[in-house]
Amino acid sequence: MAKPMLQVALDTKDLPAAISVARQVNDVVDVIEAGTLLIYEEGLRAVQNLRALCPDNIILADTKTADAGGNVGAECKDAGADWMTCINAATVPTMASAQDKIEVQVELYKNWTEDLAQEWLDAGIDQVVYHQSRDAKLAGQTWGEEDLREVKRLIEMGFKVSVTGGVKPEVLKLFKGVDVYTFIAGRAIHGAADPRKAAQEFKDEIDRIWG
Ligand code: 5RP
Repeated sequence: MAKPMLQVALDTKDLPAAISVARQVNDVVDVIEAGTLLIYEEGLRAVQNLRALCPDNIILADTKTADAGGNVGAECKDAGADWMTCINAATVPTMASAQDKIEVQVELYKNWTEDLAQEWLDAGIDQVVYHQSRDAKLAGQTWGEEDLREVKRLIEMGFKVSVTGGVKPEVLKLFKGVDVYTFIAGRAIHGAADPRKAAQEFKDEIDRIWG
């Protein structure tokens, strides 16, 4: 089993803040995410800047695309991203046209089914992000056995599964023995007093559990 990768989600208020965090953590994390909130603020120049700053990292544009997949995919690719996200509510043709341009991750929020997920696989999309939404977390949702079951089910179907949503180092042990592709942490890293130290704590926990 491969060790899970670590991704920092840069949902910062502006580009200088994102660049500052990326500089501190790019040799600790594997994937640098231009977060949805950052893209709303700064557009795809956020992706361009992160690409230039972090040539050795995978760069994800978290666009959560719902339509016009081919157009958004081409824009993300031109900006320097390796991966982009589509929301699970997008149609399969939207996802497939994005996947023609760039590697797509489907972000799972609500109302997806195994039959639909099989259609994504059939369209050549093999990455999903298992997500607890920020708003659900604020309403009290926590990580638990049901999440573990769903993540395992998706891995068994053949997906590379990333896990995100208020993830902190202490959440990781829930997934011991599970072939998680990437753990994605936003506020726990970019909101920390020392983002590099926070990222290293995630990395140390991954090494301890998946050694
Ligand atoms: C928000 C996102 C975030 O990037 C993701 O949830 C990680 O952020 P955090 O660890 O702060 O919850 O996709 O829609």
